[in-house]
Amino acid sequence: MSANGTAPAGPQDFAFTAENLERAKHIIAKYPPGRQASAVMPLLDLAQRQNDNWLPRAAMDYIADMLTMPRIRVYEVATFYTMYNLKPVGKHFVQVCTTTPCWLRGSDDVVKACERKLGIGLGETTPDGQFTVIEVECLGACVNAPMVQINDDYYEDLDAASTEALLDALKRGERPVPGPVSGRQTSSPAGGPTTLKGRVPQAPSATAADSTHGDD
Ligand code: FES
Repeated sequence: MSANGTAPAGPQDFAFTAENLERAKHIIAKYPPGRQASAVMPLLDLAQRQNDNWLPRAAMDYIADMLTMPRIRVYEVATFYTMYNLKPVGKHFVQVCTTTPCWLRGSDDVVKACERKLGIGLGETTPDGQFTVIEVECLGACVNAPMVQINDDYYEDLDAASTEALLDALKRGERPVPGPVSGRQTSSPAGGPTTLKGRVPQAPSATAADSTHGDD
């Protein structure tokens, strides 16, 4: 079940823009004839992006009709995944991972920092519509725990202070560089690389590879 609750009334009509309709046709064409339903997830994502990051029921119905699917099957998909928002969310949609690796590395401090800095609890939106904060399950960046996803960006290696600094930057209208805020390169060791620090080994040349295969 989506963490974002049941759908409010929302707009009565939805249709893709001309540009998104072309994108939708391109997505559907990736699947064999009769298997158009496989396009439901990318089409829901496309609709959500068109509609300020949430899915009104009209959008789900539109996609069901486009894919010749029973509407209930589209609702089932949209209500299962937390990536689909079934009610309006803030401009900055903050998803805090609190699954075990992030929890062990301090996600409680990240949650408290969000609540303190924004004055809202989990599942709530600030009155100015700028921020929504929710709690989510593992987002697949455990090696850089704890982390949050804000819209399409991951911010990692967080603590209370860096979370507050991140939110302050967003409030100022900045877009902080995604990735580990600790400064480490991707998921390399916190103290810097421990292997492959010298000369990078060269791949064997085509001639050498050919000669090796010739000995088989
Ligand atoms: S547990 Fe947080 S990203 Fe996996």
